[in-house]
Amino acid sequence: MAQLLDGKIASQKILDMVREGIVTSTQFNFRKPGLAVIVVGDNPASQVYVGHKLRACESVGIFSKEYRLPASASMEEVKLAIDELNRSPNIDGILVQMPLPPHLDAIDLVTRIDPSKDVDGFTPHNLTRLLQGRTGLFPCTPLGVMRLLEMNNIAVRGKHAVILGRSLIVGRPLLAMLLDANATVTVTHSHTEHLKEICQTADILFAAIGRPGFVEGSWIKPGAVVVDVGINRVTNPSEVPYLKASEPERYSQLVNKGSLLVGDVRFGEAEKIASFITPVPGGVGPLTVAMLMSNTLHAYRTRKK
Ligand code: GUN
Repeated sequence: MAQLLDGKIASQKILDMVREGIVTSTQFNFRKPGLAVIVVGDNPASQVYVGHKLRACESVGIFSKEYRLPASASMEEVKLAIDELNRSPNIDGILVQMPLPPHLDAIDLVTRIDPSKDVDGFTPHNLTRLLQGRTGLFPCTPLGVMRLLEMNNIAVRGKHAVILGRSLIVGRPLLAMLLDANATVTVTHSHTEHLKEICQTADILFAAIGRPGFVEGSWIKPGAVVVDVGINRVTNPSEVPYLKASEPERYSQLVNKGSLLVGDVRFGEAEKIASFITPVPGGVGPLTVAMLMSNTLHAYRTRKK
């Protein structure tokens, strides 16, 4: 049976360090670090994630403010909100929660964020620095993935890392981070041929495509490390036909509660084959929030100088 990569334990350690860092940085009556979260519309998953982010701020001593805009907000209205936050001396971090309503251009909007406040690491400035292998503010989820591996003493140097998914939030920045850590990296996506066979050659497999149970146990090389970045809410057992046989208790939860969070990997099948595996929930998710707190402290310290 695979060993669990526990994201809750790892994220608590990171949050403790951030909390201590904030106590030290604010001891001579300096203001607290500040994070602004812009939410457009009422995507239910976003509401949950933003709630986690705001509560984490509270727990480590970051001042936070949520800016809610209606789903009908125009590009101009969101840009005005960003401009105001760019100017605000009490705000060190700005993030625009994704996904945005389809009429808004997400890349255009995040490009407007002051790179020194870009705690999501999505601006051209910070993405360039990441590709250059320099320091900067980098995307929280791939940062969290790398930290989770480090904290569990899983070395990536020389290993074949296979990433499923090429998103701007996970797949692409993770590619750059893994290369920096001297892994050999294959990035796969919806057009990739022989996907199963490629996955079977992975020493470390990262699934970030947002499809419940997409990766089957037979796709995993015995002893591989499996990092499941997917967080999918399912409400109907027909979305996860594999679950009843491989995870009967979780299947019952789904039937009884009418809803369940599952990853991109069939956990019950994969845990029999992998050496290490992240659970969903409680794997990568908590790390994303912890790295956002860490990025906000980093932005605060850089801006204070
Ligand atoms: N939606 C899902 N993940 C993220 C993230 O890391 N940052 C933002 N802003 N939105 C997201």
